[in-house]
Amino acid sequence: MKQRTVKIVDDATDLNYSLPVENGTVRAMDLRQIKTGPDDFGLMTYDPAFMNTASCRSAITFIDGDRGILQYRGYPIEVLAEHCSYLEVAYLLIFGELPTQAELKNWVYDITHHTMLHETTKSFMEGFRYNAHPMGMLVSTLAALSTIYPESKHVFDAANRRHQILRLIGKMPTIAAYTYRHGLGLPYVYPDNDLSYTENFMNMLWKMVEPKYQANPVLARALDILFILHADHEQNCSTNTMRCVGSAQTDPFLSSAAAAAALAGPLHGGANEAVLVMLDEIGSKDKVPAYVKKIKEGHGKLMGFGHRVYKNYDPRAKIIKWTAEQVFEVTGRNVRLDIALELERIALQDEYFIQRKLYPNVDFYSGIIYQAMGFKPELFTVLFAIPRVAGWLAQWQEMITDPEQKISRPRQVYIGENTRDFVPLAERGTAVRR
Ligand code: ACO
Repeated sequence: MKQRTVKIVDDATDLNYSLPVENGTVRAMDLRQIKTGPDDFGLMTYDPAFMNTASCRSAITFIDGDRGILQYRGYPIEVLAEHCSYLEVAYLLIFGELPTQAELKNWVYDITHHTMLHETTKSFMEGFRYNAHPMGMLVSTLAALSTIYPESKHVFDAANRRHQILRLIGKMPTIAAYTYRHGLGLPYVYPDNDLSYTENFMNMLWKMVEPKYQANPVLARALDILFILHADHEQNCSTNTMRCVGSAQTDPFLSSAAAAAALAGPLHGGANEAVLVMLDEIGSKDKVPAYVKKIKEGHGKLMGFGHRVYKNYDPRAKIIKWTAEQVFEVTGRNVRLDIALELERIALQDEYFIQRKLYPNVDFYSGIIYQAMGFKPELFTVLFAIPRVAGWLAQWQEMITDPEQKISRPRQVYIGENTRDFVPLAERGTAVRR
């Protein structure tokens, strides 16, 4: 097939350039040849917030934002959510194929045997203030793990990488549960290897004095489905952070801490917490129209609405809505669901939201489920981070093994002062300028 090219004419020089197009992209470095003279650096692209820049070639997650499609390694999210466990999906993301029965057995065994935290890590977490935000605790503890496993810096050793991946996936629920119990002043609960990944998480969260924790199977499955839905989402803010920090050959614990820090922001994973705050602020169904009006007048955003990539219904939000019904049969209906449904109904009919293609995203309903399960909003983003670590690690490993990748380092358009004469402090006067 003929190679597609785009032609560029530089009207500064009248020179013609022909740039090859591959996978719908031109290489930004190909623009560098476009110069006004030998001293010119060459043309760059300016793309704040990476609105139109592909930073990598990836075979992990596919999103078609216009059609509302999400696939991991070619499998539709709906199929995976219906038929798989979270650990099966984590395997798929990291190794590229669904595991065979034997592979899954070994994988589950290995993860289950990497759930415990070093006792000093437990003491480290005890040092946080009683009301510390769980995301702050998670970010710091992930970074602290780097001091326990210094060998994790050998990022080009495949066996070593696999070991750290087991540790990270295994320990995330343990850290998350510790952050929860710390806030409540409850003693920490050690992992129980007889239980599944989500059952054990529930055990570490909610076990009191009973000798053996019995997880409710509906809630355990609902958590598993939520984990599958949150496991990866291609080059989002936290994943991009994971790749960026990892590109400096930083170990995966520190890179994951950085990614978790990105996830904590209210425009990213922190949105699920913000949705609950918003629903409480609205208070009742009848106040929804007034709230939507306020948003349209430019006072804030409808949290849990809108997405950089989805310009259609987020497929994850559909599955979460269905999962919510299952959960509420066990926990009782969360009253906020009615406010959320009304908000969605009104927004989806409103010209402002239609024009801007703003639909509910994954965070819109997840918080309502989490709250019905008994979690406080502060923990919601930690619940998001537990499964997302599989996506971060899959993307990190892909980046580390990609010969085209180097240290991540964007360019800038400098808009500051030209070279200036230095004025000594004594000659700068005493005025306060800002
Ligand atoms: N409520 C009201 N208006 C919105 C919303 C919203 N939630 N989201 C976007 N808009 C408006 C913007 O004001 C803008 O309007 P304008 O064209 O009149 O200026 C237009 O829609 C386009 O929005 P952008 O901000 O340019 O879209 P961007 O892709 O930069 O932002 C984002 C995406 C951050 C998700 C945004 O929609 C938002 O802030 N949503 C609320 C927070 C949220 O739910 N985040 C979770 C995202 S999913 C995740 O990270 C897991």
